Amino acid sequence: MEILEEQRENWGGRAAFVLAAIGSAIGLGNLWAFPFKVYNYGGAAFLIPYIAAMFVVGIPLMILEFSLGHFTQKAAPDAFGRVGKKWEFVGWWGILLSFVIIMYYPVVLAWCFSFLWISIKAIVTGSALPWSGHGIEGVGRAGDFFYKEYLQYNGSHTLGGINWKLFWPLVITWLAMYLCICRGVKLVGWIVWITVPLPWLMLLLLAVRGLTFKGSTQGLAFFLNPDWSQLASPAIWRVAFGQVFFSLSLAFGVMITYASFLHSKSDINNNAVIVCLSDFATSMVCGIVVFATLGAMAHVTQTAGSPVPVSKVSLGGPGLAFVAFPYALAQLPYAHWFSLVFFIALVTLGIDSAFSITESCLAAIIDKTGWKRSIVLPAMTAIGIFSGMLFITRGGLNWLGTVDTFVNGTWGITFMGLLEAVVLSWAYNIDTLRLHANNRSDWRLGKWWNYAVRIFIPVVLGSLFVWNIIDDFFVSGGGILGFFIQKDGSVNLPHCVGMAIMAICPILAVLTSAHRSPYLQPEDKTTRKSVQRKTERLVGIASLAMAILSVLLFAAALNLPSMAVHAQVKWAMIVASVLAVTAGIIAGNFAMDRAYAANAIPSSIARWSGVLSIMVLSTIIAVMLVQLTGKAKIPAVSEVEQTLKGVSYIMLGGVSLLIIAGLVWCFYLAVRAGSNGSNTLQQPEEN
Ligand code: PHE
Repeated sequence: MEILEEQRENWGGRAAFVLAAIGSAIGLGNLWAFPFKVYNYGGAAFLIPYIAAMFVVGIPLMILEFSLGHFTQKAAPDAFGRVGKKWEFVGWWGILLSFVIIMYYPVVLAWCFSFLWISIKAIVTGSALPWSGHGIEGVGRAGDFFYKEYLQYNGSHTLGGINWKLFWPLVITWLAMYLCICRGVKLVGWIVWITVPLPWLMLLLLAVRGLTFKGSTQGLAFFLNPDWSQLASPAIWRVAFGQVFFSLSLAFGVMITYASFLHSKSDINNNAVIVCLSDFATSMVCGIVVFATLGAMAHVTQTAGSPVPVSKVSLGGPGLAFVAFPYALAQLPYAHWFSLVFFIALVTLGIDSAFSITESCLAAIIDKTGWKRSIVLPAMTAIGIFSGMLFITRGGLNWLGTVDTFVNGTWGITFMGLLEAVVLSWAYNIDTLRLHANNRSDWRLGKWWNYAVRIFIPVVLGSLFVWNIIDDFFVSGGGILGFFIQKDGSVNLPHCVGMAIMAICPILAVLTSAHRSPYLQPEDKTTRKSVQRKTERLVGIASLAMAILSVLLFAAALNLPSMAVHAQVKWAMIVASVLAVTAGIIAGNFAMDRAYAANAIPSSIARWSGVLSIMVLSTIIAVMLVQLTGKAKIPAVSEVEQTLKGVSYIMLGGVSLLIIAGLVWCFYLAVRAGSNGSNTLQQPEEN
């Protein structure tokens, strides 16, 4: 069913859209966050949960977001509103989460602009870079320059007044974002021809340079030597999934909005895979750039008699991009020029991600209110600058970290991803979206995708969600209260504020969606007749019974007095509870499929018991994982100089092969589809 009646502005060609989506995906998350996350969470071992998250959740959800945006031709809230008026809030929730990001992301970009400016000034005046000391003291001085001199950071969560030095860079960042999107997506489609290839060029330059220095493999060892024991820690899985969502700009509503500006015949599936693989490729190159250069730095400083091992530079948080890496560059020849290259890469990587968020919030507001872009955008820019000022205070860095952790953690994005998959597959006929995507794509999705989105992804994200809650509250912390109140009785302010922000987002989302707007599209009722059929209701009841049985069995198994009963009985009960709840899920799913096949509304009991069963199964998996793995440990990074192991080469080779072969295959399919006589398919429509 086509609903693309009215003419919405569009990207123009396919390349513009793909580049814009890649531009949104690749950003500070790739160059700044990915390398240090790999380093902190088990080296190449981190790539296992990362690849799992990318293929199991990232790619299917990217296709889901593209097809939803394209099908409805509306920004996220309105797109969810078509599924059912009551689900509009899910879209707003994502928009509000991205609004939280747009408060602090431009602040980091503002730092990049400042450092870019400092590099240019140093080149022009021929003076030394402020982060270019020698030896361990030099690292300390580079750190002091960033934290003390530039940020005037007070090391606490006390705000301590605004640091006005950061104000103008922040204003410039917002102004640049404003200029990029003020003319709508057509202009964005042109700008990304610069902001996507340029940072790639810079990264390649830095990679080649880093790798040609002696000692680079010693640096890469920190990136690629695996510590497999980390795989048992919930933290590594949480971080990997969070990183995939953040890096792919998923579940924030951004990709839904971008796809809504696609012309009606554009490919969906292949584009989604191209975007995901390109983002992964960029992250890997960034990791190589960073660690090869750090290895070179370690080697150079050692030969110069003032050794600075890689493990002695601060890599967590902002330390990597603003202390360690600039310091490392400064130890090598042509430091000024390569600092320039690095900060140009950061700025151009980040700016298109930042404006994609603004664009998605903007489109959501415009779709709902019908207000003019020329009014909403300046207002948003002003609000963005104003709210960004929280993060340019002297304690701003800590708040930035706190907010970032919450948005990209259990309560923010993991939950949103779960909700998105559940709503679109249990409250809506997901097959509509699959067929819509297949009708115009270079390759077709099989039915498996329906079940991935309806069952598999919710179970994976649900287990992760519950696992992390148990970990936050009960394993690592002192219960729910202990999460908010410290041992000495004082309030844990960051946790309280972070949680409050996470709670305000859904509340505001519900309130916003409660307001009826004349501009919104009606619900999509075309695929269903409003009869609830008896058989499906009975199956639904059976599914519910299974879920309840499973809960009882599992609770009983956990509470069996350990010495009284043999372990086998306990395990038998656990297995039985898993089987029962799996039967519940299958029954719910069966009822959904049958009803839609008969063009009827699935019974609500079948839907709800299906979702309930998924949550029960997730809880069982999470509890088992907690029992098996115990307390999450934050890994200690080895101090010893290492060499790159054989297994690391294999991992690197495997990942490169996966990415390159994947991309070649995607491009082959795209070219074939474009040249088989139906090449009008991917052309924009004539207006
Ligand atoms: N994906 C971007 C990055 O990696 C950040 C981003 C998050 C952009 C959410 C849009 C939405 O830096």
